[in-house]
Amino acid sequence: MSRRPIIAGNWKMHNNRKASAELVCGIKEAIEGIDKDALPEVVVAPVFTSLDVVSQNICNCGCGRIQLAAQNCYFEEKGAFTGEVSIDMIKDFDAKFIIIGHSERRQIFGESDEMINKKAKAIIASGLTPIICCGETLEQRELGVTDSHIASQIVKALEGVAPADVANVVIAYEPIWAIGTGKTCDSAEANRVIKGIRTTLSQIAGKENADKVRILYGGSVKPETIKEQMAQSDIDGALVGGASLKVDSFVEIIKGAM
Ligand code: PGA
Repeated sequence: MSRRPIIAGNWKMHNNRKASAELVCGIKEAIEGIDKDALPEVVVAPVFTSLDVVSQNICNCGCGRIQLAAQNCYFEEKGAFTGEVSIDMIKDFDAKFIIIGHSERRQIFGESDEMINKKAKAIIASGLTPIICCGETLEQRELGVTDSHIASQIVKALEGVAPADVANVVIAYEPIWAIGTGKTCDSAEANRVIKGIRTTLSQIAGKENADKVRILYGGSVKPETIKEQMAQSDIDGALVGGASLKVDSFVEIIKGAM
């Protein structure tokens, strides 16, 4: 089963409009000459306030080499939800993906599995693709409950999603202790957990659908780690934080996934 790799940059709460435009233009220029079919699917996720400017810069080049993602959304269509942004508003910028359930959203902003499930269903219904994050804390890892915790996060996130729709979601396995710490999860171990995620997906949606799901690794991905990560049987790409904020390191990671 060949799955097209994804390299996604999660810019988190960085970059105003000017810095966002510079970063996306830098990436665009650096990959312009590369054969489109040889590239992984390249995705950037700026802050909401930069979606417009990044979208314009991606569209202007017309090369279709970079896709836009949002870092979050709300599941209701509209209404009295001060401070929230709907999926339709994100779609307005021609975004293709929305990251949901990032550990920072779960831990800092108290997002529950139930909310993530509502977001996943609303994103799928809108025709966009959710990038659903999961991952264990260091404490859970040390207690030996990593696999059951991840399986539970996946089952809850996808409750009520039709099997055929499960095939199109993207999952990002991001051990929380590896995020922003410089401590990358051992590639073979990340692959083992990701295989477990695929088994859970098979139980939910059948093997054929599960085999289509792209599952990314995230957590201190660097230019030096990407080749080994991509060489694993079940790692289909990366969700990159810190190293996606500089053109050089992000482009090196993209090339490392080719
Ligand atoms: P990091 O972040 O690459 O800086 O560890 C990854 C993420 O949080 O998605």
